[in-house]
Amino acid sequence: MKVSVRVPATTANIGPGFDTLGMALPLYNTVTIEETVLPGTGIEINVFSDSDSIDQLSLDHVPTDENSIVYKAVELLYNSIGQSPSELKITIKSNIPVARGLGSSSSVIVGALIAANELLGRPADEVALLTIASEIEGHPDNITPAIVGGLVISSQEDDGSVIYRKLNWPADWKITVCVPDFELSTGIARSVLPKEVPMRDAIFNAQRMAMFVEAVNSKDAELMKLALHDKLHQPYRMKLVPGLDSIMNELKHFDNVLGVVLSGAGSSILVISEKNDLDKIHNVVKETWANQNIKCNIKTLSVENEGAQIISNED
Ligand code: HSE
Repeated sequence: MKVSVRVPATTANIGPGFDTLGMALPLYNTVTIEETVLPGTGIEINVFSDSDSIDQLSLDHVPTDENSIVYKAVELLYNSIGQSPSELKITIKSNIPVARGLGSSSSVIVGALIAANELLGRPADEVALLTIASEIEGHPDNITPAIVGGLVISSQEDDGSVIYRKLNWPADWKITVCVPDFELSTGIARSVLPKEVPMRDAIFNAQRMAMFVEAVNSKDAELMKLALHDKLHQPYRMKLVPGLDSIMNELKHFDNVLGVVLSGAGSSILVISEKNDLDKIHNVVKETWANQNIKCNIKTLSVENEGAQIISNED
């Protein structure tokens, strides 16, 4: 049996929603799991890309041994039904930039879990898949939209269960994804965060998060401009993303720009804007990064409302 699952990229945090907000984007990885007949071969993992914007060096950094998150995902699912994975060939077609804050790790965890679940006759429901995937990733903000699509608020509770609700992203708010040519691992980006934050910063984010939800629900662009700020992670990560500060300062003078935020843990930046001036936005980001010798790939996207999909299932 051979199952392929297509999983969208995701952006997380989106300003005030550290470890809480996430949104699926129309860039995809495909994970294929095939049962092989050769006994003793164990789990074999291969990664490739057919996209020019994915560099081979990044793909070489993706672990394919027992330390791989894909391996862990499959093993945890099998273990949850009292089995161990046998001979499996796992192929990842990677079209989501790696270590750029666009959910590439969540996408392969989710793809591997859903494909393995299908091979096993679907023992895990959505609740179980969300729990296992968020356990491996450590937080649910990328995992949930990768599974359910759209813009999502999520939280992993003490018992491991994931609570989520979808919000409707206004169709005419554009998301410009600016991907620099350098990687930033989530581990490093989390290591610079403090263990505790000042109460006034926590209050600032709670206020922005409430504004975010109301701004999205009522399509209130002026409120969204106030909401897209953060004091819990971006100030600490600023030094890891050269140019972020300058890009924020340049773009805050554009009337149509609602905000500039770090995508997930970085290194990509999201510019959220109303429909016009996209070329000007692209130029500001390109020029600012070029001044720092950083090349980039910039795409304006809309939200992907579908989560992971099984795209083939062959006996
Ligand atoms: N919320 C996570 C972070 C997303 O910012 O560290 C990256 O996995």
